Amino acid sequence: MTTAASSCASFLIKILLCVSFLCLLCLSEKACVVHGADEITLPVSSLFPSPNCKASTTNGSSTLKLVHKHGPCSPLFNGELANYTQFLLEDSARAKWIRSQFSGTNTANDLKGSAVSVKAKYGPGGESYLVTIGLGTPKKDLTLLFDTGSALTWTQCEPCVVSCYNQTEAIFDPSQSSSYANISCSSPSCSQLPSGTGRQPRCIDSTCVYEQQYGDRESFTIGFFATETLTLSPTDVISGFQFGCGQNNQGNFKEFAGLLGLARDRISLVEQSATKYDRSFSYCLPPSISSTGYLTFGKGSVKSASVSFTPISTVSRSPIFYGIDIIGISVGGKPLSIPSTVFSNAGTIIDSGTTITQLPPTAYSALRSAFRQAMTKYKMSTPASSFDTCYDLSGSTMVTVPVITFSFNGPIDINLDPSGVLIPVDPSKMCLAFASSGDDRDLSIYGNIQQRSFEVVYDVAGGRIGFGAKGCS
Ligand SMILES: *[C@@H]1O[C@H](CO)[C@@H](O)[C@H](O)[C@H]1NC(C)=O
Ligand SMILES: *[C@@H]1O[C@H](CO)[C@@H](O)[C@H](O)[C@H]1NC(C)=O
Ligand SMILES: *[C@@H]1O[C@H](CO)[C@@H](O)[C@H](O)[C@H]1NC(C)=O
Ligand SMILES: *[C@@H]1O[C@H](CO)[C@@H](O)[C@H](O)[C@H]1NC(C)=O
Repeated sequence: MTTAASSCASFLIKILLCVSFLCLLCLSEKACVVHGADEITLPVSSLFPSPNCKASTTNGSSTLKLVHKHGPCSPLFNGELANYTQFLLEDSARAKWIRSQFSGTNTANDLKGSAVSVKAKYGPGGESYLVTIGLGTPKKDLTLLFDTGSALTWTQCEPCVVSCYNQTEAIFDPSQSSSYANISCSSPSCSQLPSGTGRQPRCIDSTCVYEQQYGDRESFTIGFFATETLTLSPTDVISGFQFGCGQNNQGNFKEFAGLLGLARDRISLVEQSATKYDRSFSYCLPPSISSTGYLTFGKGSVKSASVSFTPISTVSRSPIFYGIDIIGISVGGKPLSIPSTVFSNAGTIIDSGTTITQLPPTAYSALRSAFRQAMTKYKMSTPASSFDTCYDLSGSTMVTVPVITFSFNGPIDINLDPSGVLIPVDPSKMCLAFASSGDDRDLSIYGNIQQRSFEVVYDVAGGRIGFGAKGCS
């Protein structure tokens, strides 16, 4: 009995020590995270964005700093942190756009026409990320949305023949650059536009005119297809880079100067820089919108010591997207019982411009119920928009979440970072960061929240995409 009592007492002391040790650790070090095999314990506060930017050094050649569009590290930050209602709406518009790519028969917008009043709610991506590049000679710095889901790189251009929206940096003026040239309608580059933009080019005074639509097709850019000198870093200069010099830019664009297109197509930066970087790039999306990540080009630039690769697959209807094949999902180390055909039927793409991963409803409901089972000790909260699994953690300092593992063709297993599992909607609402695609036959989209903190390596020449854990540090 004495033995039992003393072992009980020592057990209690151990727990007390353990808990207070944890607390000390957490007070001294903000990033106090305890990894178990099947669950992770972390401070609730670490899931909330900080109002101040904690930049990490992004060094090395061919490397650009990558920042969240609505985070304090963005050069365009206006004090408005991310709005989750807004990005869920933007996500569903983007998903609709992705799924309808190239099957649309919409009427063309006009370059010569007057500025129409467009009531667009959605742009190219909800919670997207930004990079700053240099364009022209002498170079002008422009902050662009980085997008693996579209091919064309464009920026607003003077003289804004029809319409330009307000951007933070000065609008690019080709007449001030010695390296700018229009692409003519008869050039082979002009006839290559449709595979990347989904639209036939037009011709104005023998200059090739591109058109690109986004979101719910209410956002668009139209302008001259042209070549310029693109400067990614002082040592990474690409001359004759083909881009869109936007003269009619309308819709839900704000502050940023345009878009950097990295999809699989001949007009994408990846293809245009193929001789320099061998169709290889990687990025790390930071775990918090208040810290910085990077976008880097070339095989030699991969930073992670260990990267697990899965083959790139092609979604036949939309070949510009990077397809990857999910083969299973585990929660807390236990594989969910989801028939593999649920994933293989429609396929999955990985996208930098969609925020929340959208899964076939059968997979989503299996994930949701396993997650809820593992989280029974926390008080559930009311749904927030399409998030139906939310918790009120306002009374907790620490939270223990089950590890969510995605298995991809390879096979490889990727354990998501906690920042890719729970997202804060408000201080009393922390939600499971996944959504249902609505129909088991619909394409799944692996979104950017779930990619957070990984170095995601695109070895396009090698036909594979890799994930390196703790990629941002
Ligand atoms: C990284 O940048 C810092 C400061 O900008 C510099 O001192 C350091 O040498 C750089 N490191 C590398 C590997 O380039
Ligand atoms: C967030 O976005 C939604 C939808 O656009 C809007 O109704 C709401 O007022 C916004 N909330 C904040 C706090 O800005
Ligand atoms: C654009 O900027 C101008 C000048 O700063 C301002 O007067 C105008 O209201 C802005 N337009 C929009 C739509 O914000
Ligand atoms: C590009 O083409 C447009 C339309 O033909 C023309 O107005 C503009 O002056 C041209 N720019 C250059 C630098 O040739």
